[in-house]
Amino acid sequence: MLYLELNEKNILIAAEQLSAGKLVAFPTETVYGLGCDAFNKAALAKVFEVKKRPRFDPLIIHIAALDTLEKLVDFSRLTQKAKHRLTILSRALWPGPLTLILPKLQIVPDIATGGLDTVAVRFPAHDGAIRLIKESSGAVAAPSANPFGYLSPTRAEHVREQLGVDVDIILDGGAADIGVESTVLDISAVSPRILRPGGLPRETVEAFIGPLQVEQVHSDETVNSPGQLKSHYAPRKDLYLHNSSEMRRLPFFPDDAYLFFERSSFKTFIENNKISTEIDNTNFFILSAEGDTREAAVRLFDTLHTIDALPVSNIHAERAPESGLGAAINDRLSRARAQARNVNK
Ligand code: TXA
Ligand code: MG
Repeated sequence: MLYLELNEKNILIAAEQLSAGKLVAFPTETVYGLGCDAFNKAALAKVFEVKKRPRFDPLIIHIAALDTLEKLVDFSRLTQKAKHRLTILSRALWPGPLTLILPKLQIVPDIATGGLDTVAVRFPAHDGAIRLIKESSGAVAAPSANPFGYLSPTRAEHVREQLGVDVDIILDGGAADIGVESTVLDISAVSPRILRPGGLPRETVEAFIGPLQVEQVHSDETVNSPGQLKSHYAPRKDLYLHNSSEMRRLPFFPDDAYLFFERSSFKTFIENNKISTEIDNTNFFILSAEGDTREAAVRLFDTLHTIDALPVSNIHAERAPESGLGAAINDRLSRARAQARNVNK
């Protein structure tokens, strides 16, 4: 495994490796991806193997130019309405943290799409990622670069710790700007649906194409939006999710970690528990002092990675408000819950 700084020279090295069927982990604005050439079946198989990801769970194909859609998407199977939505959204919100589900052309390998006749496409808003995609085949399949079901990586170090030697190159471009994965949107349905809340708030998409439905949390058996399993994005520790008022009233267990959405909740908690201390790093974490969902999203996975490495028993986490990126934060926290994990056992 080569661990390289993200710069022009190394991007060219990585692009060549992608074309040769190797796996390259690279930064995007959301989280790090584990990339391979989207048309190389052997490389795609390796991605599933390295992630220990079930073959039915399809990958997102990353593009760096709108005309690449012609190599991936069967436009003849899009309704006029869906075509219109695609035009509006791709012009207004790409590059960006938005993944669109579209009918696939036959040449897109089935292994990339988990056997579905649709393909997930995203144009990431990250200069390094765009350069890398352009210098390789122009279509890079990349799931988040974590073992299946575990926390997504927001830094190159997370990828090194989790997948390490199994990756051919890791490009280190620093911490991700957004910190949660892209919003996955199906625009083909009669009413468009969010399959996964993510880095692009629902409100932003709705401003362009009107009201959206949001997929409910799924059981393991559902394969329409296969990534949306009840248990996902999970730390190894047991995580318990509380609404704000519950969180503020929790007792303090010295063996547990407390992940507050905002400082005011933390303050009430320590007053209630008569804790006179400053923040003790091993017990207390605040995602955003002022309760900003954007800042909280950036810090979510990074903070969970930190907590997961500490000698604490359980994690108590506070729900975010549902607006803006709060929906994505709550989605990830719900799937990280201990109960969610038990359901899937
Ligand atoms: O921000 C992101 O989206 C990151 C970065 C690397 O781009 N990627 C990412 O990929 O999160 P992954 O593989 O961890 O999640 C892809 C999600 C899964 O929930 C998967 O089930 C869904 O997209 N998906 C992919 N293809 C689909 C399809 N044809 N129909 C429905 N859902 C699909
Ligand atoms: Mg993932």
